[in-house]
Amino acid sequence: MNPSSLKNRHVLLAVTGGIAVYKAAELIRRLRSEEAEVTVVMTESSQRFITPLTFESLSGNKVYTDIFSVPMAHITLPESADLFVIAPATANIIGKLASGIADDMVALSFLAFRGPVIFAPAMNWRMYEHPVLQRNIKTLRDLGCQEVEPEEGELACGEYGVGRMAEAGRIIEAVKGCLTKKDLAGLKVLVVAGPTREYIDPVRFISNRSSGKMGYALAGVALRRGADVTLVSGPVSVEPPLGARVVRVETSDEMLEAVKKNLGGVDVLLMAAAVADFVPDDYSPVKREKEGGFTLKLRPSPDIVKAVSGIRKRPFIVGFSAETGPNIAKAKKKLGEKGMDFIVFNDVTLEGAGFDTDTNKISVIDEDGVADYPLMSKEGCAEIIFDHYLRHSR
Ligand code: C5P
Repeated sequence: MNPSSLKNRHVLLAVTGGIAVYKAAELIRRLRSEEAEVTVVMTESSQRFITPLTFESLSGNKVYTDIFSVPMAHITLPESADLFVIAPATANIIGKLASGIADDMVALSFLAFRGPVIFAPAMNWRMYEHPVLQRNIKTLRDLGCQEVEPEEGELACGEYGVGRMAEAGRIIEAVKGCLTKKDLAGLKVLVVAGPTREYIDPVRFISNRSSGKMGYALAGVALRRGADVTLVSGPVSVEPPLGARVVRVETSDEMLEAVKKNLGGVDVLLMAAAVADFVPDDYSPVKREKEGGFTLKLRPSPDIVKAVSGIRKRPFIVGFSAETGPNIAKAKKKLGEKGMDFIVFNDVTLEGAGFDTDTNKISVIDEDGVADYPLMSKEGCAEIIFDHYLRHSR
């Protein structure tokens, strides 16, 4: 099973009373779409903003609001949960939990729960900055609870500052991080992602359709599974995962230099970048005139994998082979020629695979043979790639 899968994991979601309550609805929807089981407990004041019925409909489960209506629910619910998430977490609940007050369903469930706790504060920026609140957050953190820090921006009160509840995506990432086995802990992973740009003149370049999504998924999954991650990235529009050290590059020469510079102590190199294979031979330092056109002469770009696989103390190397057709033989050839430990093949002409999609259909090829996988999310592909790595390295 995918180690970061939320399938059948039981999340006990505590909703407390702030305007950010509406964001909890989106969070439940996202958790459900990842097949997690969600049960909601609400404080009194949160029900002023939104009714339990909304959360009941979204979660498909009864919502618990009152400590007396279902006796012992505050004990039985936490017992069956894998994770306790408080989102939004008001200053009030943070203070209560930090000092052990237990006078509602949320606070009681917190005390009865044994397992990972995540809380996502949401409040006015001055409240968030207040030393008392910060002291209470520290108390919760010291107890092992994980804060998903609020974001900076326009606040519900009309002011600007740090206090907006983290977006659902960040909370889901924290949830997955908590529930994932850290089987890559202690490993240094270098992911190289995205396209490169090779300049013709100061305003024009040649490049390719790579979105960087596969490489960024590899970096995210490696972080979640406990690795230390450096991400060398060509120009892309996707956000890097929180916690990765990001080195931005543009050209294949810069990418090669960045890989060499960051190779010290690396255990695994995942070369998911789509290096432009050609570099203009005659770069013009001034913008070329369009009149009359011109012939562009290209030379091959430096081969980064080859450069790394040739060194004496080299890391484990995973390469990628994006082909236009079911050309597995070509990928096999690259595996040997470039000195990789295994290569991930994909046919970019298939529906849902390759450039700028969130899904991919991969085959993993090593000396022993070919393992084919169905179409799945790039995150799922990344999990499979690291599982292969772990099998190889044992
Ligand atoms: O030959 P091809 O470009 O298809 O090889 C693909 C693999 O080699 C990928 O892992 C890619 O990142 C890597 N590569 C490289 N340097 C290049 C071209 C590709 O490291 N100049």
